[in-house]
Amino acid sequence: MRRPIVAANWKLNGSLAMLANLLPDIVRHAQQYSQVEIVLAPPYPYLQPALDYIMAANNIHIAAQNIARQEQGAFTGEVSAAMVRETGCEYVIVGHSERRQYFAEDNVIVAEKVSRALDAGLNPIVCVGESWQERQQNKVSTVITQQISAVIDTVGIERMQACSFAYEPVWAIGTGQTATPQQAQDVHAIIRAQLRDYADSLADNCRIIYGGSVKPDSAAELFLQADIDGGLIGGAALDAQHFNQIISAVPDLETT
Ligand code: PGA
Repeated sequence: MRRPIVAANWKLNGSLAMLANLLPDIVRHAQQYSQVEIVLAPPYPYLQPALDYIMAANNIHIAAQNIARQEQGAFTGEVSAAMVRETGCEYVIVGHSERRQYFAEDNVIVAEKVSRALDAGLNPIVCVGESWQERQQNKVSTVITQQISAVIDTVGIERMQACSFAYEPVWAIGTGQTATPQQAQDVHAIIRAQLRDYADSLADNCRIIYGGSVKPDSAAELFLQADIDGGLIGGAALDAQHFNQIISAVPDLETT
């Protein structure tokens, strides 16, 4: 049984005031949903304050949005996986399409970052997804398969057990255009089959969550799909009420 994850990607948003505003509500709500693993990814300066807020909730974890490709050294402005882990964070988002697009992270860099994260004891949430153009050209399966095999071939099946994947079609991120539950399920099934080609244990245990304009009214149907194990939420996670509604949309494990 895979435990669902609902993760919040704050991106380049937030402030101490926003933490004070959102986190107590999220912590309170999370306590009623102990079957859901909740992951919050604020910008680096807010990792420590966020950790302080979630102390009372053992189903909430804090994530960084990125880590350096390098372990240490003369790389001004970078933050290593070990530093993130040392603060008490347990997760990191790796390979988000905005990193791939604006910071030139290719499959090789993403795989290296996943490896660094695992070395440091972080659980990576590895983002994959196709552009609109790739979808139009029927390349969804090829693109996703390459993104995933780059990671698994680098880190090895054994170490992949700590990884989750987020399928985030680039055309759905921040656009308000969510993939339909069927479109999302179709790609999640492709990912699951690819994981099964590597090992049954990977396919059975790795969580594959969906991201891209998930909102309170679209979450429930997405989360009901057989291969969707939760969501990675951007815009809607900046509002505690919306994010809490999305957490509530996770189906009861007993009844599914
Ligand atoms: P969105 O972002 O929910 O605002 O589309 C999702 C993400 O980029 O992870």
